[in-house]
Amino acid sequence: MCAHSSILSNCSTDALASVAEKLRAGGLVAFPTETVYGLGADATNPTAVARIYEVKGRPHDHPVIVHLADINQVTEWVAEIPEYAIALAREFWPGPMTLILPRSERVGDFITGGQKSVGIRIPNNSLALEFLKLAGVGVAAPSANRFGAISPTTALAVQEEIGSYLDSERDVILDGGSSDVGVESTIIECLGNAPKILRPGAITQEMIESATGLTVDESTSMVRASGTLEQHYSPRAKVFLLDSENPVVACIAGVGFLALDTFPTPDGAIRLAQPRNNEEYARVLYDALREGDRKNLPAIYVVPPSGTGVAVAIRDRLKRASA
Ligand code: TXA
Ligand code: MG
Repeated sequence: MCAHSSILSNCSTDALASVAEKLRAGGLVAFPTETVYGLGADATNPTAVARIYEVKGRPHDHPVIVHLADINQVTEWVAEIPEYAIALAREFWPGPMTLILPRSERVGDFITGGQKSVGIRIPNNSLALEFLKLAGVGVAAPSANRFGAISPTTALAVQEEIGSYLDSERDVILDGGSSDVGVESTIIECLGNAPKILRPGAITQEMIESATGLTVDESTSMVRASGTLEQHYSPRAKVFLLDSENPVVACIAGVGFLALDTFPTPDGAIRLAQPRNNEEYARVLYDALREGDRKNLPAIYVVPPSGTGVAVAIRDRLKRASA
């Protein structure tokens, strides 16, 4: 094991082809997506996928998402696709959406945590798509952070999270700049008569209902998803949620503060970001929390955004970060 895994920036197609070759040889490749950075391995190689779990320190029964370059590859991985899932795929892929579908014969238990379903995603990031195309195989990839921690949205954040667990000979971190969306994909279970949201994201309930003409099923799901654990997405600093109606509190000097730019910074607090709208809030959220840890702040006070759209995903992540 080596403490200095290599970050590769401004990759030429040739360089990217040799990264794809490393992946096929069993290496791990951290790569950018529009949501967050993923830690990828060849989804047909159980030994390579096992290394993802080691590096993340993640329990072995948690399933990982298979990333594909092209919608035509989906049928290799899934047994059947309900009509409404086809509508979602056509509308939102490539994009920040993961579909949970019945798995095909070839999908190993080491991908699904023993479940009969598989998570599939086609990310909307040009470097990711080029890399996935060159890899030619499905790429199993959870977010590139240690288990329970916040997802990385830059190559540097990947390095800080897991760099010391990677092997500089075999593994690579691809640098594609900051992730555009900033929170993980919407996970939609497509196993019943209607779509069910397991994890909110930038593809919202309204968008799903309008693309499928169906009402989202709001009953609780039986499938396991680590992103739905009560405590997850946590920085080291303690996160306290403030009420958006009445956000200003007398705070202890030296704590971090995160809110839309319309909220003034409380006296003595350290402002971590000043997003102008909810999309920008999502984009800067994880790096702001991470910045609190870089500054060794004991606590971060956060005013979550109100309303619908991506604000739902931000509130979901902040609730878990503060649990
Ligand atoms: O935006 C994203 O989805 C990022 C990027 C890298 O694509 N990936 C990501 O992966 O967030 P991860 O493993 O950190 O979160 C994926 C979630 C986990 O909670 C996992 O349990 C759930 O998806 N999941 C994966 N396959 C599943 C399946 N077959 N059934 C239920 N949940 C599944
Ligand atoms: Mg994750």
